[in-house]
Amino acid sequence: MHLLPISLTVSCLLSLAADSLAAPHPSIFPGAHIGLSRRASKRRSPDEVAASLQRRKLALEAKYGIGNAKNRKRASGQNLITDENADSSYFGSLAIGTPAVSFDVILDTGSSDLWVASSQTGATSNIPSGIATFDAAASSTFKSLNQSFSITYDSGMAQGALAQDSVQMAGFEVNSQVFATVTEVSSNVLNAPVSGLMGLAWQAIASSGATPFWQALAQSNSTLTEGLFGVQLTRYNNDTKVTALEPGGTFTLGATNQSLYTGQIDFQNIPTGEVGYWIQQITQLTVNGASVSVGSGSSAYAAIDTGTTLIGGPAAVISAIYAKVPGATAGTGQLAGYWTYPCSQQVTITLKFGNSAIAWPISSDDFEFEAADSSGTTCIGAFFEVDNTGTTAPAWIVGDTFLKNVYSVFRYNPPAVGFAQLSPTALAMNGARGAAPSATIGSVQAAVSATGTVDTGANRASSAASRAGSGVGVGLLSAASAALLASLLL
Ligand SMILES: *[C@@H]1O[C@H](CO)[C@@H](O)[C@H](O)[C@H]1NC(C)=O
Ligand SMILES: *[C@@H]1O[C@H](CO)[C@@H](O)[C@H](O)[C@H]1NC(C)=O
Ligand SMILES: *[C@@H]1O[C@H](CO)[C@@H](O)[C@H](O)[C@H]1NC(C)=O
Ligand SMILES: *[C@@H]1O[C@H](CO)[C@@H](O)[C@H](O)[C@H]1NC(C)=O
Repeated sequence: MHLLPISLTVSCLLSLAADSLAAPHPSIFPGAHIGLSRRASKRRSPDEVAASLQRRKLALEAKYGIGNAKNRKRASGQNLITDENADSSYFGSLAIGTPAVSFDVILDTGSSDLWVASSQTGATSNIPSGIATFDAAASSTFKSLNQSFSITYDSGMAQGALAQDSVQMAGFEVNSQVFATVTEVSSNVLNAPVSGLMGLAWQAIASSGATPFWQALAQSNSTLTEGLFGVQLTRYNNDTKVTALEPGGTFTLGATNQSLYTGQIDFQNIPTGEVGYWIQQITQLTVNGASVSVGSGSSAYAAIDTGTTLIGGPAAVISAIYAKVPGATAGTGQLAGYWTYPCSQQVTITLKFGNSAIAWPISSDDFEFEAADSSGTTCIGAFFEVDNTGTTAPAWIVGDTFLKNVYSVFRYNPPAVGFAQLSPTALAMNGARGAAPSATIGSVQAAVSATGTVDTGANRASSAASRAGSGVGVGLLSAASAALLASLLL
C-alpha cells in the first residue's frame, strides 16, 4: 500500500581463507595439468589437495574480482526465547544504539512496529520499574525523527516518538532502523523484564510506515542464508511447577533450525493481496474428529500471531466448536466471549491451512487454557470470540495455543507461512527445568542499513487511524487478557 523506497547497503563479508589472498602461484593458469601430487615432496591427502585447489581458485577469482558476488557471506543466527507466565507471552532480546544496550522484547508476528520504553517517562506512564529503558542521550548513533508514534492493541496502547538507531538481533544489524521510544503504555502492556515489542509482520501494517527489522534484512537479498525466520515455542501451561520465566524456545533468522523439526516444512502462500499480517486461510477445523464449518474466503482468514496467547475467531464458529464439547457453557460478565467446559473433557482441535492436506493438531493441554475454579472441575477453553466488525483485522487470530504444537516458518518470497512437526529435541524442551535466557548482545555477522523509510503526511495519518481503528488482533491480544484472568481466578 504505502511502501516507500528503501536504500540498503550490504556489508560485504568475504569468507576467503587468509592464504588465498597471497600472490598467485607462478603456474597460475587453472586447469587439469598442474600435477600437484607429483611435484609435491610428500604425498598429500585428497582433502589437502582439494583444499589447496580451492584456495587457488578463490585466489584467482579474488584477483579478477570474480569472487565478490559469489563469496559474499550469507548468514543465519538465533535468539533464545523466554516463556513468560505459563505461555502467556514469549519474548526475545535485541540491542539498540552505540554502545549497544540490550532489551527484552515481545516477539510479535501480529504487528510490524519496533518500540522500547524510553528512560524519559512520566509518573503516569505505566512503564514498570526495574526494566531496561532506552536512553537516547547515551547512544552516539541515535537520531530523533521528531515525529510522534502511537499504536493501539486490543489490550491497550503504546505511544512515544519515532527515532532511528542501529538495532541488532540474532547476529544481524540494521543501521538506521526506525523504532519508537515509548513514554506511555496502558497498564498490562509491559510486564517486567520486558521493555518493548519487536513487530515481525510486514511493513504494510506498520503504524510508523517503516520497514520492519526482519524485512529490511530479507529484502537486501544477499544477507540472510534464506529469506525467512523460524520459531519454536515451548509449553509450560500444563506444568504445576511453572515459574514466571521459563526457557521459551528458539527464534532463528535467515535459516530454519533442523534439529527442531522433522520432515518437510509445509509452506502455504499468503493469499494474494493480503501481505501485511501473516495471513493463512483456515480450510478445515475439527473438534475431537468432528468437522466444524469455518466458511470460506476472508471470513476464514487468520493472522498467525506469536504475540497472541490464545485463538480468537468469529462468535458463530466458536459457538459451533463448543457445541461439540459436552458440558461447555458461554462465559458471562468478565468472561464474556470465553467458554468454560468440564476439565475432564479432553478436547483436541485440528486446523488445516490453505491448500495443505495436513490437519495440525492442538494438544488438549493447550486447549485447556486455565482452570476456572479452585477444585479444577471447570476449565476455560483457549478458543474465544473476536468481533472484527469495522476493523482491518482478520476474522481469526491464531496465537501461541496453536504455535506451541508446530515449528513455524515465516517466509519473505514468495510470502508464505510454513509449519513442520516438532522434533523429539524440541518436544523435550516442553516443561524442561532450566534457566530462562537473559538479554544478550551477540556479535554481528552481517549488517544492512535501512534509511528514509518512515511514512509521512497524509498516508501516515490515515495509516495510524486505521491501525488504531483495527484494535483487535494486533499482538498482545490475549497476553493481557491472560494476566487479567490469572488475577480474576486466583
Ligand atoms: C519538530 O517538529 C516541530 C513541529 O513540526 C517543530 O516546531 C520543531 O522545530 C521540530 N524540532 C526539530 C528538532 O526538528
Ligand atoms: C532484491 O531483489 C529484488 C528482485 O530481484 C529486487 O527488485 C530488489 O531491488 C533487490 N534488493 C536489493 C536491495 O538489492
Ligand atoms: C504436558 O503435556 C505434554 C504433552 O503435550 C506431556 O508430555 C507432559 O507430560 C505434560 N506435562 C505435565 C506436567 O502434565
Ligand atoms: C538449534 O536450536 C537448538 C535449541 O535451541 C540450539 O541449541 C542450537 O544451537 C540451534 N542450532 C543452530 C544451528 O542455531
